[in-house]
Amino acid sequence: MKPDVRILLLGEAQVGKTSLILSLVGEEFPEEVPPRAEEITIPADVTPEKVPTHIVDYSEAEQTAEELQDEIQKASVVCVVYDVSEETTVEKIRTKWIPLVNGNTRRGPRVPIILVGNKSDLRPGGSMEAVLPIMSQFPEIETCVECSAKNLKNISELFYYAQKAVLHPTAPLYDPEAKQLRPACSQALTRIFRLSDQDMDQALSDQELNAFQTCCFGHPLAPQALEDVKLVVSRNVAGGVQDNRLTLDAGFLFLNTLFIQRGRHETTWTILRRFGYSDSLELTPDYLFPVLHVPPGCSAELNHRGYQFVQRMFEKHDQDQDGALSPAELESLFSVFPAPPWGPQLPDTVRTEAGRLPLHGYLCQWTLVTYLDVQRCLEHLGYLGYPTLCEQDSQAHAITVTREKRLDQEKGQTQRNVLLCKVLGARGVGKSSFLRAFLGRGLGDARGPPEEPSVYAIDTVRVGGQEKYLILCEVAADSLLTAEADTSCDVACLMFDGSDPGSFALCASVYKRHYMDGQIPCLFISSKADLPEGLSPPGLSPSEFCRRHRLPAPTLFSCAGPAEPSMAVFARLATMAAFPHLVHRELHTTSFWLRVALGAVGAAVAAILSFSLYRVLVKSR
Ligand code: GTP
Ligand code: MG
Repeated sequence: MKPDVRILLLGEAQVGKTSLILSLVGEEFPEEVPPRAEEITIPADVTPEKVPTHIVDYSEAEQTAEELQDEIQKASVVCVVYDVSEETTVEKIRTKWIPLVNGNTRRGPRVPIILVGNKSDLRPGGSMEAVLPIMSQFPEIETCVECSAKNLKNISELFYYAQKAVLHPTAPLYDPEAKQLRPACSQALTRIFRLSDQDMDQALSDQELNAFQTCCFGHPLAPQALEDVKLVVSRNVAGGVQDNRLTLDAGFLFLNTLFIQRGRHETTWTILRRFGYSDSLELTPDYLFPVLHVPPGCSAELNHRGYQFVQRMFEKHDQDQDGALSPAELESLFSVFPAPPWGPQLPDTVRTEAGRLPLHGYLCQWTLVTYLDVQRCLEHLGYLGYPTLCEQDSQAHAITVTREKRLDQEKGQTQRNVLLCKVLGARGVGKSSFLRAFLGRGLGDARGPPEEPSVYAIDTVRVGGQEKYLILCEVAADSLLTAEADTSCDVACLMFDGSDPGSFALCASVYKRHYMDGQIPCLFISSKADLPEGLSPPGLSPSEFCRRHRLPAPTLFSCAGPAEPSMAVFARLATMAAFPHLVHRELHTTSFWLRVALGAVGAAVAAILSFSLYRVLVKSR
């Protein structure tokens, strides 16, 4: 998890660095000390934070300036030791040691520093006055501690503070000068508050506080502790507790400020880390993108846990409980995202209702994102706090990776719930209108921005008594003839304009180039069926072409007829996608005579032929 902690002791000669280390290890004050102690490694299980810890001494007499720089580079925290009875050693903290450690650091985060006033047996409490201004000058100073190697006073504390400074640094959380949380910290805590505020009343009830506590610390608060927390807050700030609930700014954020001010910032860190934050208060890649491998030929779908969670989020944000998210409700759902994740194409991709997103369309959109870009889906589930709120180690639990399509084909059935249909055809044949019709919209009923129309539409379709998600993906076919394009899908829908049969040629070429020798079922669609049929150019007519290739005859489709566009074609596409082998079997029987006519008659075919002729003869007798 965490890398080792490396504590480096620096400071003027004779302040007692070596003695401090030897006192810690030997638990007695060494009368005789070498100039420099050997590096000490403390195993994880005997340190308070269970992290392997190295303690490194420095001796000006024994080490060069380069060696010193090298050690500073490697250190995760530096203890600058001074002698409380020697004012010059205090002065050198400011003039020499801190500049040496962090002076030339444009290199990102500064190394945390602990000021250590040794020899407190000689002048107890005497150095605070001199040290406080230094602490306020350098924000990288985590804390200061007075100790005595001689009396063994505060020795283990000093090393504990050093360890804590590395594991739970204050600097990213808190601005000691302004005495308040840093913006990134309040932002992160605000997101956590929003995720924990289940009923969205901008305050945490006892029940919500307990759920939050359990998420972060593994157990609920004792009833008395709960009352104490609220009491502390309400005593300290007005408005921190309202109607027996903890508010955001005056309550939750104040409480965390209090933790930090009282040196309990590990509490705030536990909360932040549980919700996925790194030391720099960004959500970590490990949290947003847990390992999930989708091998080639497989697809990603949300499973029941995933759907349950996203539905729970929907219900939480559907404040008026009308079964749909208004733009404002959608905005509140996205308030825990860095930016709204779903683009302006949304209304052209899923079914919406008068500018609002019903649950069905919402689930469709999640399904689409998961299928097309599972990493993005994981990221989004991460923003919504899936691992924390569902108490699972990652969002990968919300995803099912389907088996390889090849296996589906071999077994003649699919376990997939999401099927992809590519809609291919020349420009202007009516692909976009076909997608819109799928969402129940007529001609010219585009909702999204016309300059960036959605190339996807998704809805559910009943296939053999089961609801399946069908994704239509529009592809301009002229692009397919040039590039090594991706034509993989579960069913291909090749569209030409029935009133302009010239547009068929492109479909035919796409078919021959990409689908003729493959396993993907294809359906030709003759669009604009309400218009008079155009004159076929010389050559094979579309129906003839389909017959020759043992394909189903072109299906007529119109978006502009007097009746609603027929939904049957979508159910048919989904069925072909779900049961490709059935399509073939059906076709084999319908194209039986064609095969005979084409002269592709093997002995077996001839035998069956004569047998069925025999039956016909028998029957007619
Ligand atoms: P260099 O190796 O020269 O940089 O010095 P150092 O910082 O390692 O100091 P060291 O531990 O060698 O101690 C210097 C002197 O201070 C020794 O004589 C110690 O006995 C004495 N000393 C160290 N700690 C204490 C302390 O807590 N109280 C008192 N009274 N003397 C101490
Ligand atoms: Mg020494």
